[in-house]
Amino acid sequence: MPTALIIGASRGIGLELVRQYLADGWRVIATARSEADCKRLAGMRAHSYQLDVTSADSIAALGWNLDGEMIDATFLNAGQFGPRHDGFPTQQEFDTVMHTNVLAAMRLLPLIAPMAETVRGKIAVLSSVMGSIGQRGGANATLYRASKAALNSVLMDSAISYGPKGVTCIAFHPGWVKTDMGGSGAEIEVDVSVRGLRATLAKAGPEANGTFLNYDGTPIPW
Ligand SMILES: NC(=O)c1ccc[n+]([C@@H]2O[C@H](COP(=O)([O-])OP(=O)(O)OC[C@H]3O[C@@H](n4cnc5c(N)ncnc54)[C@H](OP(=O)(O)O)[C@@H]3O)[C@@H](O)[C@H]2O)c1
Repeated sequence: MPTALIIGASRGIGLELVRQYLADGWRVIATARSEADCKRLAGMRAHSYQLDVTSADSIAALGWNLDGEMIDATFLNAGQFGPRHDGFPTQQEFDTVMHTNVLAAMRLLPLIAPMAETVRGKIAVLSSVMGSIGQRGGANATLYRASKAALNSVLMDSAISYGPKGVTCIAFHPGWVKTDMGGSGAEIEVDVSVRGLRATLAKAGPEANGTFLNYDGTPIPW
């Protein structure tokens, strides 16, 4: 039975990833910030661990809990959009977005990659087309865009480090999805996005290492 690890599984895309992998017969390890969300995930038959991705101690504890695991598919999903205004971000806003979207990936990817090596596993980060520099369609949400561009850079470094060891690392845009972050006016339902993300990851071979893909597999310029 393959194992999936979903980081940030309390709601939205992360929760739907848990639902779909479980429905497909996978063993699922899921993390959430609150104890109540972890209990709910455990009630769905996921192995759940409490994790705040902005806390180094919390990430270290996850490392201990996952010792010896072999993980076929990982989605680093936890993310923050940050301020909806277009003024200067405050220090607090900057730290929250950058720590959640970038620093967490810098800490988590090296921790998870060795657990993927033995099973030639795949690691996906939830980036966004808003972080693309080559396909920049607007200048709103500057902080979020910068954080996802930086996340893409971290992902590429992981692809270079772990690709030769058999791990396939991919940055994904999930579409504009109807979640708390995407809003009710978004383009696609969460189950459609997640079906696409899972299918694209399943199809991806080593040649997909270090790519930036839409949920349907279409390449996106960095
Ligand atoms: N929805 C879209 O249209 C869209 C488009 C492009 C990219 N994305 C990306 O896709 C990912 C998922 O988005 P979504 O739409 O499902 O967002 P969402 O509904 O806002 O959910 C965000 C998830 O991230 C978790 N999270 C935030 N900060 C965390 C922290 N410090 N530690 C642990 N977990 C934390 C949240 O947990 P809590 O419940 O504890 O807050 C929640 O599970 C994000 O990375 C987002 O940037 C989304």
